[in-house]
Amino acid sequence: MPAESRFPEGFLWGAATSAYQIEGSPLADGAGPSIWHRFSHTPGRTLGGAIADVACDHYRRADADVELMHDLGLAAYRFSLSWSRILPQGRGAVNAAGLDFYARLVDRLLARGIQPMITLYHWDLPAALDDLGGWRNPEIADWFADYATAAFEALGDRVPLWATINEPWVIAHDGHITGVNAPGHRNLYEAPLVSHQLLRAHGAAVQRYRSGCKGGIGLVVNLEPKDPASDHPADRAAAARADVYFNRQYLDPLIHGRYPDGLREIFRDAWPEFPERDFDLIRQPVDFLGINYYTRKVVRHDDADWPVRASGVRVPHRTYTETGWEVHPESFTRTLCWVRENYGDIPLYVTENGAAFEDSPAEGGRVDDLPRIAYLREHLRAAREALRRGVDLRGYFVWSLMDNLEWSSGTDKRFGLFHVDFETQRRTPKASAGFYREVIRTHGASLDEPPAPAGS
Ligand code: BGC
Repeated sequence: MPAESRFPEGFLWGAATSAYQIEGSPLADGAGPSIWHRFSHTPGRTLGGAIADVACDHYRRADADVELMHDLGLAAYRFSLSWSRILPQGRGAVNAAGLDFYARLVDRLLARGIQPMITLYHWDLPAALDDLGGWRNPEIADWFADYATAAFEALGDRVPLWATINEPWVIAHDGHITGVNAPGHRNLYEAPLVSHQLLRAHGAAVQRYRSGCKGGIGLVVNLEPKDPASDHPADRAAAARADVYFNRQYLDPLIHGRYPDGLREIFRDAWPEFPERDFDLIRQPVDFLGINYYTRKVVRHDDADWPVRASGVRVPHRTYTETGWEVHPESFTRTLCWVRENYGDIPLYVTENGAAFEDSPAEGGRVDDLPRIAYLREHLRAAREALRRGVDLRGYFVWSLMDNLEWSSGTDKRFGLFHVDFETQRRTPKASAGFYREVIRTHGASLDEPPAPAGS
């Protein structure tokens, strides 16, 4: 077996989930409602009125779910904390029962030899804070840092890796411009304010982490190359704008301490002036960056797009997933190398990568999800290529451990390695779970074996 086909010793093989998408029981044991609870309970906001009152019922099945992870051979599990379980009002008194749930989960993971990676914020803001202006209120940096401190104090001794915020771009864009996500606003003027407070909150939490914890902390961003649909200058300019908006909006201030110039042109009079001193807070040194990668986008200029085109045009003869995303593993290598070239040799984790495909169980419950296996195989090879080119990639987390609530798309889009029957809560490993188990067992060497025939 050639040594270079294996991933480095200690490479962290993981899978990821988030609180609102899997836990269910959103108001149990003293928890307060989150913006997603309110949003999904508002008629017309989610597909078919999907709510997460049960979701994967992970809140009551966490122990059994850790056994699934153990069977898979996972070295790490990335999950998020629900802020409003821990602080029902978003600030003030801690709800011990909420914190206990996560303390038990962490202990269980450690007992099974699985490293926890915690995301502090995966989109489910306490509703009580939304009532105070949510991410638009500059006080949120302190609220978030206080919440983070409560989590660090309770779990920091046992949790080696912390991510502050998951995908600030989605929070600002889909929560505040398109309104597809909670809190469902459609107001261009809010988006830069929200982005800025997300970055300040991240910085404030990192500062608190430094005053007592010894593991690693970083931010999770979603990245995708933006390729022009043609050589026409208008298409090239549109792709460049999309790149600034999507890929550089958060990483530039985080690492370089300033927003990229193009943002002013994109937002025009919706772009405010920000105090210079804020960038000292934002630019705290991080221990790693978490990269979520799913696809690339091919961008064509359209006068109707404002501020920029977020969706791409379809390329003929390419494979698209159920979420309409092109399968483009070359761009995964490109993205990881791009981060290194633009932001330096910072340790990276792929904190999410995966695909939704239609995978209905065959007789006996078997799910032969060959398209997902092909997706994971090609993307893991692409990650290995980035390592070969010198990227300091430390780990990889499949999105997702199990089928879950795909936000406003409900349970329709399945990303899991485990199939979840939402009626019975039965979990069934898909063929991709077996594939990933083998990848982990062989440190990636099995990626070079020819794909197994269907049904084997
Ligand atoms: C999010 C996940 C989501 C996944 C697939 C990411 O943007 O972090 O919560 O389920 O993509 O859409």
